[in-house]
Amino acid sequence: MAVAPFPAEPARTNGALPDANAGAEPARTISLRRPDDWHVHLRDGPLLQAVAPATARCFARAIVMPNLSPPITTVAAAVAYRERIRAAVPDGLGFTPLMTAYLTDTIAPAELERGQAEGVFSACKLYPANATTNSAAGVSDLARLSAVFETLERIGLPLLIHGEVTDSEIDIFDREAVFIERHLEPLLRRHPGLKVVLEHITTAEAADFVRSAGANLAATITPHHLHINRNAMFRGGLRPDFYCLPVAKRERHRLALVAAATSGNPKFFLGTDSAPHPRQAKEAACGCAGIYNAPFAIESYAMVFKAEGQLGRLEAFASEHGPRFYGLPLNGDSITLVREAHTVPPRIHANDAAGVATTLVPFHAGAVLPWRLADPLAP
Ligand code: NCD
Ligand code: ZN
Repeated sequence: MAVAPFPAEPARTNGALPDANAGAEPARTISLRRPDDWHVHLRDGPLLQAVAPATARCFARAIVMPNLSPPITTVAAAVAYRERIRAAVPDGLGFTPLMTAYLTDTIAPAELERGQAEGVFSACKLYPANATTNSAAGVSDLARLSAVFETLERIGLPLLIHGEVTDSEIDIFDREAVFIERHLEPLLRRHPGLKVVLEHITTAEAADFVRSAGANLAATITPHHLHINRNAMFRGGLRPDFYCLPVAKRERHRLALVAAATSGNPKFFLGTDSAPHPRQAKEAACGCAGIYNAPFAIESYAMVFKAEGQLGRLEAFASEHGPRFYGLPLNGDSITLVREAHTVPPRIHANDAAGVATTLVPFHAGAVLPWRLADPLAP
């Protein structure tokens, strides 16, 4: 079935204040301090070649997920992967991949500490075992990792969490809220100094929990969870391009995420969770979870902030809250968004892991977007 475009301009959804210049001629361009992506899947091999430039042309830095097969569990593997990423990015973009370690039941705290000391690991990623793509080697029981968490707490290395329980008895739409109650809250109580990012939040419960916790807990929010609710997966038929994990929830949750992202609260920041899969792997009897949003991510976020009358808060969400949480300097350069309607291609050509030609379906495929990122390499 052909994928119909998702509406480009979301309806204005809450009572947020309009733009300061509302009523005036809309600005032709917006310049922003260059943003960072605090959660992205760049993959490996031919797919890495195809997707890394899309991230690097917009974002100065990106927290790169370690869920390769096999996962990145050692300093040496992260160094080698970082080199492959650098080689896949065109010269002149000034892009820095920030590497993460994939936590397993048996990972040695000393490896994490060494990785941080050598400037390789910027964070650790916790996947509950079997929660999502390539997470089979993830953590089966948080209680087993107390030595790891003590080390992270002591050295200040952030813990990034895929916050979903894997219990098949729990309804898939409740798995994030149950994870917070059963695992995250007790973890933060046991390790009050641990710096934690609850990744790609999808519920009002997650936004509330993050808001009410201490400054050591923050969250990333994806563009797709700001645009779609769970209906998108079932509109007129089964639409795998809108399937990701954590799965999109009801409209009231989307509204809570839009409110959190556009609130100006420094606990919420940009993390695309761009997660490309070859089209055949998504359009299958057991299709993969993941939405490929990197090519138009900043345009996608800008639409949401604009619709809320909060474009003035986009820069803080995209370019300031993240580095402040991670204790990194803000980027000195800038990007420009041009107000120019353009159509998102319905397919992007790539090669799969075996080098066979395939296509990727980008988020907003076929839709007309009002903004376009100016070419960063244009003279
Ligand atoms: C991610 C992937 O494909 O690697 N998929 C996704 O739906 N987000 C894994 C993840 O972040 O859960
Ligand atoms: Zn992810």
